[in-house]
Amino acid sequence: MKFLVIGATGATGKLLVSQLLEKGHEVRAIARSKDKLPENLRTHQNCEVIEGALLDFGDEKLSELIQGCQGVGSCLGHNMTFKGIYGKPRLLVTEAVKRLCSTAKSPIRFVLMNTTGNRNRDLNEPISPAQKIVIGLIRLLVPPHLDNEKASDVLRLTYPNGSNVEWVVVRPDGLIDKDKVSEYELHQSPTRSAIFDAGKTSRINVAHFMASLLTDQGVFSEWKNQMPVIYNKQ
Ligand SMILES: NC(=O)c1ccc[n+]([C@@H]2O[C@H](COP(=O)([O-])OP(=O)(O)OC[C@H]3O[C@@H](n4cnc5c(N)ncnc54)[C@H](OP(=O)(O)O)[C@@H]3O)[C@@H](O)[C@H]2O)c1
Repeated sequence: MKFLVIGATGATGKLLVSQLLEKGHEVRAIARSKDKLPENLRTHQNCEVIEGALLDFGDEKLSELIQGCQGVGSCLGHNMTFKGIYGKPRLLVTEAVKRLCSTAKSPIRFVLMNTTGNRNRDLNEPISPAQKIVIGLIRLLVPPHLDNEKASDVLRLTYPNGSNVEWVVVRPDGLIDKDKVSEYELHQSPTRSAIFDAGKTSRINVAHFMASLLTDQGVFSEWKNQMPVIYNKQ
């Protein structure tokens, strides 16, 4: 199978590309700079790298890029620099999800990396008054948070069950880097406070789960149109 990976040069994106290739699949990766992908990935015979900033592509080009792919994995996120956080495009992830999904001509599976700081409003996910205040402030002061919320809303509200876009929004807690995949837990909703008692999630475990969602029908069916939370097993 072939998958489109966006945010492929990021810390998690590279791991997702690598895991899809290891499973024997083809990857079409979009990267602002090809050189940011490790050489073993960008020169891999099953990896096609399209250079450019995703939102600079017109709808026709996006439709062409998604064509022939069975799914999209998004590890796109704002760079943690002043420009990345406060500069344009403020709604990078939201616009990417919106435009890719609307240009897809055939049924597509969309797996979006998000955050436990975002709630699934389809479920009753209670948070403490203190967390509500902190999240409200983050929403006001840190634009990427709002982008993550809106991006998941695009999938949740525009593509209900039965739509041509089937999706899963993956919510990791505090991201850490590890060399190897380890045991991890999946939950429908957070089991701890993302603000006051954050857990840990290895990026490589996020990539492993995302690759499983994209390639394994059983795993995808279990989480389809949901927003699973992923924590490393302690
Ligand atoms: N605790 C949490 O739950 C948590 C924590 C952190 C992050 N996250 C979320 O996880 C996701 C990915 O995290 P990460 O650490 O793997 O991200 P990362 O290493 O910062 O990677 C971000 C990716 O997005 C690309 N990108 C940034 N700005 C872009 C733009 N304007 N146009 C096109 N591409 C752009 C980057 O490309 P370049 O390489 O060209 O810059 C890179 O490929 C983000 O959505 C983030 O919000 C969650």
